[in-house]
Amino acid sequence: MDHRTEVQKETERQYAFMEKAAGYVEAMAAKLGRKPTCCVTTFGCQMNARDSEKLAGILEKAGYELVEDENADFVIYNTCTVRDNANQKVYGRLGVLNGYKKKNPHMKIALCGCMMQEPSVIEKIKKSYPFVDLIFGTHNIFKFAELLTAMFENKGMVIDIWEDTDKIVEDLPVERKYPFKSGINIMFGCNNFCSYCIVPYVRGRERSRNPKDIIREIEGLVADGVVEIMLLGQNVNSYGKNLEEPVTFAQLLTQIEKIEGLERIRFMTSHPKDLSEELIQVMKHSKKICRHLHLPLQSGSTRILTAMNRRYTKEQYLKLAEHIREEIPDISITTDIIVGFPGETAEDVEETIDVIRRVKYDNAFTFIYSKRTGTPAAAMDNQVPEDVVKAGFDKVLKVVQDTAREQAARYQGQVMEALVEEINESDPGMVTGRLSNNLLVHFPGDASLIGKIVRVSLEECHGFYYVGKRVE
Ligand code: SAH
Ligand code: SF4
Ligand code: F3S
Repeated sequence: MDHRTEVQKETERQYAFMEKAAGYVEAMAAKLGRKPTCCVTTFGCQMNARDSEKLAGILEKAGYELVEDENADFVIYNTCTVRDNANQKVYGRLGVLNGYKKKNPHMKIALCGCMMQEPSVIEKIKKSYPFVDLIFGTHNIFKFAELLTAMFENKGMVIDIWEDTDKIVEDLPVERKYPFKSGINIMFGCNNFCSYCIVPYVRGRERSRNPKDIIREIEGLVADGVVEIMLLGQNVNSYGKNLEEPVTFAQLLTQIEKIEGLERIRFMTSHPKDLSEELIQVMKHSKKICRHLHLPLQSGSTRILTAMNRRYTKEQYLKLAEHIREEIPDISITTDIIVGFPGETAEDVEETIDVIRRVKYDNAFTFIYSKRTGTPAAAMDNQVPEDVVKAGFDKVLKVVQDTAREQAARYQGQVMEALVEEINESDPGMVTGRLSNNLLVHFPGDASLIGKIVRVSLEECHGFYYVGKRVE
């Protein structure tokens, strides 16, 4: 059987399981006298969120009503394990779910996502959270319908974790959170093994989707009302290298740009070591690729970068960022920074601050280093004491905020296009739109604007967002 037929067969198999699961949900509905409810909770990154949309798509097909409240008939936690606080949140909230379950005997609880790829987590759940009904991992999420059926047919905990996979199953249902924008996986896994990071262990090796499958999915999304897409991968710059017919990420973008009706293209994440000149030129000349580049720095100290296995130096990073700012002056550059990597000194933190000042990040996510079992950094014997990390973190955060504020202010008075995303949370007479450079702008408007791209004049800068006015 060739690869494509095999993939199609698997998709058909899963649709059959959705029908089977629908039978169980229908029986439950008859018993309850109402449609059973389900809640999908996302704990992680954009990829995790996209997976949640796939889970929701299948649950909806099975006949559940999607709700936000976790006091539901079926709750699934799509977990993250990139930092320990993500794990702690899951354990804390499982206790609350158990309380709901005691009052609702029909309730089922499932766990999936990155955290489930860690054997120690499974042991802990088996021992301390025996009320969980279903557990699976990242590699077999495509068989969620099948696992759901198994959950209904079995009494105890159903556990199915795969160590890795080379499978990419296409064409399963998806229930999007936003009608007008969507994430889309272009690749899975990661081969980089940054020494602090657990992602390669829980997401497996890098696999790129076929450009044809990606284009077909985007065309389908556009036909369904999507105007903005975010291409997702741990390192999009190495997209396509291992395909039978290799394609570069820049070439993929050029193909996507041609899709009629698609207005905006975003992507995440770019690893600095693989960012090509070809990509910079494609971005520079594109009408659809947003003026935003997320370019994780992690540290500004070459010594720490080497220990992190990031494979670029401070100087190389600075040169790259400077070149990008020269080529695309209106671009917004954002980053991720880790403070407290083993062996990091006050001087190293100063190097990071130096890079922040020079690159002038438009925004940065700053994280305290979290020790992840099984990664090389966890075994390093020079872990930094908590109070030292905290002091460095506060210092970095302050510079990040000052720089971001200054950078945001540079658009004052300009007119820009914003994609309206929602009614403003605190003022129902206002809407919130996202600019190409990823800044938010609040301006007077109503629900009829949601999903539309409109021109807005940026009147007042409030630190990290604007208040503006719609212009024709
Ligand atoms: N693939 C992306 C990052 C994915 S994880 C990239 O390489 O850029 C998102 C961010 O989490 C990382 O950029 C890093 O800053 C942070 N992170 C990853 N592992 C971490 C750890 N052990 N402790 C603290 N932050 C971590
Ligand atoms: Fe983690 Fe590095 Fe891979 Fe990003 S590139 S997911 S930080 S190992
Ligand atoms: Fe994302 Fe967290 Fe997994 S950051 S890839 S959900 S470990």
